[in-house]
Amino acid sequence: MGEPVNVGVVGCGVIFAQYGQTIERLPGLRLTAVADLDLERAREAVRPYPGVEVLSVAELMADPRIDVVLNLTIPAAHAEVALLAIAAGKDVYCEKPLAANAVDAARVLRAAADAGVRVGCAPDTVLGVGTQTARKAIDDGLIGRPVAATATMMTPGHEMWHPNPDFYYAPGGGPLLDMGPYYITSLITLLGPVTTVVGAAGRTRDKRVIASGPRRGEEIPVTIDTHVTGVLVHASGAMSTLVMSFDGAATTAPKIEVHGEQGSLSVPDPNHFDGPVMLAKVDERSWEPLPVSAGYLEAGRGVGLADFAATPAGREPRAGGTLAYHVLEVMESLLSAAHSGTAVTLTSTCERPLPVALQPAG
Ligand SMILES: NC(=O)c1ccc[n+]([C@@H]2O[C@H](COP(=O)([O-])OP(=O)(O)OC[C@H]3O[C@@H](n4cnc5c(N)ncnc54)[C@H](O)[C@@H]3O)[C@@H](O)[C@H]2O)c1
Repeated sequence: MGEPVNVGVVGCGVIFAQYGQTIERLPGLRLTAVADLDLERAREAVRPYPGVEVLSVAELMADPRIDVVLNLTIPAAHAEVALLAIAAGKDVYCEKPLAANAVDAARVLRAAADAGVRVGCAPDTVLGVGTQTARKAIDDGLIGRPVAATATMMTPGHEMWHPNPDFYYAPGGGPLLDMGPYYITSLITLLGPVTTVVGAAGRTRDKRVIASGPRRGEEIPVTIDTHVTGVLVHASGAMSTLVMSFDGAATTAPKIEVHGEQGSLSVPDPNHFDGPVMLAKVDERSWEPLPVSAGYLEAGRGVGLADFAATPAGREPRAGGTLAYHVLEVMESLLSAAHSGTAVTLTSTCERPLPVALQPAG
């Protein structure tokens, strides 16, 4: 194996710790430098990683050692930071969504193509053994031809636990743009790209109250839909019914189920790397667990970055920009379908990402 890829992180907030731990244990990646608008936060974040430099964003972009910029900023800053990395001639891997809107995401992909650099994007949870085992079951024909899926995400809202939840209630956030990438990326991994969407959406209240941290009790404005429902029609003809909500206390509904002509599959939480995959055949109709058969074992956030870094030149990475753009367009189209009351046909598509054979992460 050659030298590890040098990673420069921009954005050292809540999710940084999970990436830091993964990068540290994966031999293909080396955490080299970090930057944040809040330098004190960046210093605090790298305390467990001696030798990692804290730089300004401009210094990090100009640093010739950095091979790839890991963009962990808030959604409203994703495109701006990605464009800085691309202008500096560096590959960029973003947290989801790729940008706060599809216009900005398209600018990022165009700029990367012009500069000859690559764009990757979370989520990478779907590369874990949960979604990958389910995908293999479908590819091996265990449920026959897939015809439908359901996907449900219901929480009372991230202000219950996140100390700075403002971005979840601003454009680029909301249950759909925040959690939809996990569910829709999983559905596309399982069933392929989407051609048409219909939807309905609403907002229960105009303000939310932060429930934890130093700003506990502070009200924040809500400018996005907090309950989004819809149907995604896949190019294959399969239909996925989606419910994404920050308006429910809890749910017992399964995260994702896929139904085929010969059986049904219960798919684990796409926000996690693992979880049980269950199969019910039409003639038996009882749920049986499937053995783990595909995906990265013991994966954590950042495994998609390692996969990205290891992808040969000229091949689209599994957690790639084309897929992330399609996911973002699906979400935007769902919201515009909800507001217009008409079906929306997508302009983008993507390949199903390549499957991951069962192997250790890294
Ligand atoms: N918090 C989670 O559990 C979680 C889980 C999965 C994915 N994510 C995604 O990770 C991203 C970050 O989420 P978070 O919870 O860590 O947010 P956060 O608000 O805790 O941290 C974001 C950090 O980015 C910095 N930042 C913002 N704009 C910047 C800019 N232009 N240049 C440099 N730094 C900038 C902020 O100062 C802050 O430290 C989001 O896209 C989110 O959707 C978060």
